[in-house]
Amino acid sequence: MLILKTKEDLRAFKDTLAGAPIAFIPTMGALHQGHLSLIQLAKNYTQHILVSIFVNPTQFGPNEDFSAYPRTITADCELLKTTPTTALFLPETQTIYPSGSTTQVIVPKLTTLWCGKSRPGHFDGVTNVVHRLLNLTQATHLILGEKDYQQYCIINKMIHDLSLPTTLLQGPTLREKGGLAMSSRNRYLNKNDRLIAPTLFQTLKKIQENFKNGENTTKNLLQSGRDLLAKIPEITLDYLTIVDPITLEERSDRALPNDRILIAAKIGSTRLIDNLNLM
Ligand code: PAF
Repeated sequence: MLILKTKEDLRAFKDTLAGAPIAFIPTMGALHQGHLSLIQLAKNYTQHILVSIFVNPTQFGPNEDFSAYPRTITADCELLKTTPTTALFLPETQTIYPSGSTTQVIVPKLTTLWCGKSRPGHFDGVTNVVHRLLNLTQATHLILGEKDYQQYCIINKMIHDLSLPTTLLQGPTLREKGGLAMSSRNRYLNKNDRLIAPTLFQTLKKIQENFKNGENTTKNLLQSGRDLLAKIPEITLDYLTIVDPITLEERSDRALPNDRILIAAKIGSTRLIDNLNLM
């Protein structure tokens, strides 16, 4: 596995590929099986797989966990060596955000809903870093995880609106035993948190099950989920909603089979998100 640190390293790497497709998996490190499954998915599209690790400062709010975010580069490299990753890009902040750079890519509306409400500016940081990474890598395929469903929708819109020459692919959410969606932030959870965290997925499943059994009134579906969450006082719900799968607008009346159930909640100080297809 090659280690690329600078724009020049990246350019030299691309030169050796002579225009062959590159599948790109951007990450913030603290890698887990979910990331590795995205790398396996990439193999279906090309043999040239590029992973990046960059803890992007612009997607963290002032009171968020940027400095505490797990940085496990040695373990990440060891893990990546067990995968078909061709190259790992480890940029410095200066490479992504050259001094004095002020240009921004903003996706209106979608970025202000749901997680965007609780984390103002978060998705602007995401679109900016992903856009800059795509420009640098010129990747033909971008692979993101389904767990960050809103992020996926926003990047999809950015790629569409700017006609970026990149095909966006989505890898399924990997889950721990009990159903907790794999996430780098799961390592913040203590023993008790881990016992209750699967309630988030159980809530989504409950709503899905009720829909499959014929209930389609959004209010009733969401109430069945909230009833389950109410039994665990340690969970502080941010939102639980059923949305249109593209616009992410809340389904106010009757839910449809392709709709998405989205949830975000805090367990202790750890904020977790998850989502599920209604059908
Ligand atoms: O999903 C993530 O890990 C990050 O938001 C991403 C896409 C790597 C951008 O920093």
